[in-house]
Amino acid sequence: MKLGVNVDHVATLREARGTVYPDPVVGALLAEYAGCNSIVMHLREDRRHIKERDIIFTKKALEIPFNLEMSVNKSIVDFALKLLPDYATLVPEKRQELTTEGGVDLKENYLKVSRAVGRLKSKGIKVSLFIDPLKRQIDLAKRIGVDSIELNTGGFSESKTERGKKNLYLKIKQAAKYAKDKGFFVAAGHGLDYVNVKDIVKIRAIEELNIGHSIISRSVFLGLVTAVEEMITLIKS
Ligand code: PXP
Repeated sequence: MKLGVNVDHVATLREARGTVYPDPVVGALLAEYAGCNSIVMHLREDRRHIKERDIIFTKKALEIPFNLEMSVNKSIVDFALKLLPDYATLVPEKRQELTTEGGVDLKENYLKVSRAVGRLKSKGIKVSLFIDPLKRQIDLAKRIGVDSIELNTGGFSESKTERGKKNLYLKIKQAAKYAKDKGFFVAAGHGLDYVNVKDIVKIRAIEELNIGHSIISRSVFLGLVTAVEEMITLIKS
């Protein structure tokens, strides 16, 4: 199983005081040094954390793949077409949300998503869709023609009851198998931490986890290299 480290929240800390530090470019390089498999940055429409400059410098400096998380907003897609990230992960975006709240609804946004996917793929960018763990969303992703999906683990991570957690875990497990059988590269992420990741790594159909907040939070106390190494140990065990 691979680990993609999302370094958005290094930039959140920087933006909290409007300083030039801590720099997410340095964060990305340290995560790479610690052994992760890819770096993720989300260029939000409101630029609340990551800015274009962070992405441009990071992509130039990295040896591992760069995954741009993004909405289907035209100006963001235009930016991606110039940047040419290794991967683009399409997510829904709402201005008021604290973080991405759910997967893209591919039924409701079929045309918008298909158009964005077509533009990105025409430049050779591999596209992944962040979706809820539902068969109908996976079927629509297949119809749109992406090779990769990322299953939303947010509901599972936030569930407050054992029963709810178990239900959502089973949904993720079934969806991951269904997607893998359909030929998708299956990633998962959102809200994963050093405790709940232990269940998710047991799902063999999942090939990559994208994790941000818990790793950056741990790095405040232990340093980013240690925080990433500890997550890699959990994922490989
Ligand atoms: N994957 C996707 C598609 C996301 O939107 C996010 C949040 O930016 C993550 C993974 C990482 O989530 P977290 O910061 O909760 O680990």
